This record gives sequence, C-alpha cells and structure tokens, in this order.
Amino acid sequence: MTSTGSEQARKAAEGLEHLSGFGNEHSSEAVPGALPHGRNSPQRAPLGLYAEQLSGTAFTEPRHSNRRSWLYRIRPSAAHPAFTRIGNGALDSAPFTDGLADPNRLRWNPLPEPAEGTDFLAGLWTLGGNGDAAQRSGMAVHLYAANSSMTGRVFSDSDGELLIVPQRGGLLLRTEFGLLRAEPGHVALIPRGVRFRVELLDESARGYVCENYGQPFVLPELGPIGANGLANARDFLAPVAAYEDVEGPVEVVTKYCGNLWSATYDHSPLDVVAWHGNLVPYVYDLRRFNVIGSISYDHPDPSIFTVLTSPSDTPGLAGVDFVVFAPRWLVGEDTFRPPYFHRNVMSEYMGLIEGAYDAKAEGFLPGGGSLHNMMSAHGPDRDTFEKASAAELRPQKLDDGLAFMFETRWPVALTAQAARAGHLQRGYDEVWRGLERHFRA
Ligand SMILES: [Fe+2]
Repeated sequence: MTSTGSEQARKAAEGLEHLSGFGNEHSSEAVPGALPHGRNSPQRAPLGLYAEQLSGTAFTEPRHSNRRSWLYRIRPSAAHPAFTRIGNGALDSAPFTDGLADPNRLRWNPLPEPAEGTDFLAGLWTLGGNGDAAQRSGMAVHLYAANSSMTGRVFSDSDGELLIVPQRGGLLLRTEFGLLRAEPGHVALIPRGVRFRVELLDESARGYVCENYGQPFVLPELGPIGANGLANARDFLAPVAAYEDVEGPVEVVTKYCGNLWSATYDHSPLDVVAWHGNLVPYVYDLRRFNVIGSISYDHPDPSIFTVLTSPSDTPGLAGVDFVVFAPRWLVGEDTFRPPYFHRNVMSEYMGLIEGAYDAKAEGFLPGGGSLHNMMSAHGPDRDTFEKASAAELRPQKLDDGLAFMFETRWPVALTAQAARAGHLQRGYDEVWRGLERHFRA
C-alpha cells in the first residue's frame, strides 16, 4: 500500500453523506435529474443513462421480504466480455468436498500477515461453512488480511451477501451505490451481486466475513421487547449515489457457484449515477446496538444480542444469525453472569474485534476466532468460572471488549487449510481442564 493510495482513500472517506434506515425505499442521484420520476423504466432514461433492475429476491416473494433496486448507469451491466476462470486462492465455497465437521472445540490465532501487495480479494481465506452456495442455503466463514487497496479491479459475489466485520484497519467500500466507510467496530453488508472495490484507509486491514448464501439478512423480530431496541433500523447507513466515469481496462471478478471468474471491461462498472430501491449496501456501528439483558436474574440466551438474522423456511430457525457482545451492564442477582456452559444444536463461530470476551480469560485474541460446532460442549474457561462463582454481585460494566458470533443452523465443515493451519491453537481443550468436582451428596 502506498501512502498516496491511503491518503486518496482517506480523503474520499471524509464527510461521507448517507441515507438511513434498514430496508427502506431509498433513492439517490449523483447528478440532479438522473433519477426518473413516476416510473422505473422510461422510454429514454434521463441524461442518456441505462435503466437496470437488480433483483435480490424472486420477483414474487412477499412484499415484506422483497428486495430490489433500480440502477441508472452509464452502461448497462450486460455490456461486458466473457468471463474466464481464475484461481480461487484461499477462497473456498460450500459444499466443501474436502471439508470435515469436527466435534472438537477449535480456536485460531489471527491470520498471519499477508505477502506485500495483497488486497482484500486476494486476502480472503476461508475457514469453513455449510450448505451449498449453488442452492442458496448455508453460509461460509472467511477471514481477510490485506495490505493493499484493490486497484484496477472490482469484485462481486453472486453466491451470497457479504457481512464484512473489520477488526483492524478502516475500509473504504466503493460500491455501485456509492461510498461507505467501515472502521473496526462497524459492519458492512454488501448484497449479493453488488460490485465493489475495497480500498484501505490504513496501512493494513484484517477482519472477518460472513458469506450468507441464504435469505438476505433482516433485523430480528422484537416480540415482547416492543417497537424499539437491539439494532435500530435508523442506524443502518446506505450510501448516496456516486459514480466513476472511467473508460479503460477494469478487471471485474465475480464469485460464481464457488469459483472466481474474471473479465476485463473497457469501463468501470461502478458507473451508477442514480438509483432507488431497498436492495442496498449498509454500514452499521456495532456500538449503536441497544443491548437488552436481564435486570433480575439469569443470563438471557445470546439470541437477545442478535443484530441481523437470515431466516430459513422454519420459523425461528436462522440460516445464520449475526450476534454482537457489546459493552453492557451486568446486574443479575444470584446469577452466574458470564455465558453459561452450553451444548447447542446450532453451530457457533466467534470472533473478537477488540479487548477481551467475558467467558475467556485468555487465549481468545482480537482477530482470532473459535468454533464450537453443533453439540460441542463449551462455556467459560476454568479461571472465568472460578472468578465468576466467587464474585461479589455488584452492578458491573463490561466495557473492554467487542466480540461477535456467526451462529448457524448446520455444522461448519472446515476447509483443509483451516484444519491444518499453523495458527490453529493446539490444546484449546486445556482451558476447561481442572474444572474440579465440587459435588457433595
Ligand atoms: Fe454457546
């Protein structure tokens, strides 16, 4: 990464304007008059633009879940040469033919630093996942480590939407819909098929990506919580329209049914001058999450911390939930306050953005991750258990950590590279060794 590149990205990321509200019917035009009024596809679109619909759901899906946007662009997306296969690098997709679902509790250190000149796309490394990308079900867990902006190329993922969780280094996301800035502590959500380029705002960047092959993420139902709380819709920020009018070679890489394909366009496809619709990228600041918890006793199930959920055809059963463990007060009386011991039909991948997680005294590192697959027994480590069992139960503020979880309906099968990784911790089981018997009949 040249410092010039970072400076350009930082300058572009300053003072960005946004539209707000998850799932809203947004509209934006970078040039006045570019957006048609009263119809989506006039005989001649304004300013000589092409009108194009991007469908994120089937035309006929119910209104509450239907997602589409209309894009008004310099050239239609159809104007492109043939794509050809390129190497997938460390990026992999479900079903994982060499994958192994491991019943052991597993934990990884952060990814090793990448080779010089590694951009976001080249820096994606797949840990595992489930389902089948071509069947539009399941998910994958990726990590990324990059030290270079994407230059001269853009990416889109036909296999799923991308929930990007920066852990170190800010990102400028130049998308078809406009620019978004995602810093550590934010998440970015890029819909399926939307083209974007990732530029680094710092010397390096790393983080996590949940690739959701299934139904698009939505805010969870609130039930008796009421009309407000958890992640509030208005805190999700969409970009305002911004376009590139670039004639010249631009590589467009698309992930399609598990493989990367490339085509060299003679123009930038980030050429959308105006758009409207409800299929848009978002950023969300996890510190805006309205944490709800017990004010009497017991620890609520961590579903209370759900930011976004990808529903399945079974009510209440998520393809994947994105859950955040944000700063919060613990006030429960006669309560073991850290996360409880647990065996779960769902599978839990956890990452740490900063600080420490309240169930693990040590070894769970920012940028690292743990996998507690279906029915694997997990919970607080020995030190945490002993401290929490003896703690004086004063109101306590947990404010030194930001952890998250991708919780998914099926076991996560590991890629071979994850199962054999040098940064896979050996002896993770040791954190539960020495939990002594205290039983007295
Ligand atoms: Fe759990």
